[in-house]
Amino acid sequence: MRFKNKTVVITGGGSGMGLAAAKAFLAEGANVAICGRTQEKLIKTAQNLNAGDRLLTVAVDVSKISDLDQLYTQVRDRFGKIDIVFANAGIGTPTGFGDVDEKTFDQIVSVNFKGVFFTAQQALPHMNDGGAIVLNASLTQHQGLANLTVYAATKAAVSQLARSLASSLISRNIRVNAISPGVIDTEMTGEFDQEMIAALQNEIPMQRLGQPEEIAKVVLFLASEDASYITGEDLLVDGGRIRLSPWQGL
Ligand SMILES: NC(=O)c1ccc[n+]([C@@H]2O[C@H](COP(=O)([O-])OP(=O)(O)OC[C@H]3O[C@@H](n4cnc5c(N)ncnc54)[C@H](OP(=O)(O)O)[C@@H]3O)[C@@H](O)[C@H]2O)c1
Repeated sequence: MRFKNKTVVITGGGSGMGLAAAKAFLAEGANVAICGRTQEKLIKTAQNLNAGDRLLTVAVDVSKISDLDQLYTQVRDRFGKIDIVFANAGIGTPTGFGDVDEKTFDQIVSVNFKGVFFTAQQALPHMNDGGAIVLNASLTQHQGLANLTVYAATKAAVSQLARSLASSLISRNIRVNAISPGVIDTEMTGEFDQEMIAALQNEIPMQRLGQPEEIAKVVLFLASEDASYITGEDLLVDGGRIRLSPWQGL
């Protein structure tokens, strides 16, 4: 029970890695607030999690500061001060460079970069010193990817943000780290067709997609006292995709 009496806020907690992290934090005793844009999804999630008063759901769009203000006001009213923030909400569908229009560009940057920035900034007045913030970046920041130009750039920005925020919050002993998941089996990759999934699996030395629960374990580690001397880090969780060659010939 590493998180008994701790309060955790997870953006994008209605599905995928955010949901897996919510489950894991609840299992370790935390009070958890999750948000997402879709009220119905949150209601369904809350029914499945069946965590009673220890779970709060708030329908907000993280790209709007006024919505984040609502989120943190509700969290304060229910649970008091916050200990941990997992800034996880993100969007991105593969699109060729030439096909990225202004609306798509603005949406991805607003959610993935502006949203993460202000999720962290707006949390600060409500956070206990000694807490932890984990940002969800992506392995895509390390590769040239023809169809993820905007998405990958926002994730590079998130990774950099982890270092600057860590520096800025050192005096409050709030540790800030990022994770960079590889290809994880969630709603986001559920949009990919079988051919694409097979090609991706082939590129991963472990020859499989990651599971959201495997990411949740890393989030909980970084948020816990077990990671008390880690800040400003960005941890790859990608089945060896970036660091290893998929080819076993040498
Ligand atoms: N899956 C992968 O392979 C992979 C790899 C590396 C990194 N990531 C990153 O991991 C994070 C989680 O994604 P996932 O794979 O778990 O996919 P997911 O199941 O689609 O989760 C994303 C969540 O974010 C929420 N969300 C999206 N826009 C939002 C907004 N403007 N305000 C509030 N919530 C919002 C979504 O809920 P609503 O639609 O209800 O808002 C959804 O619950 C994302 O940042 C993604 O970029 C994913």
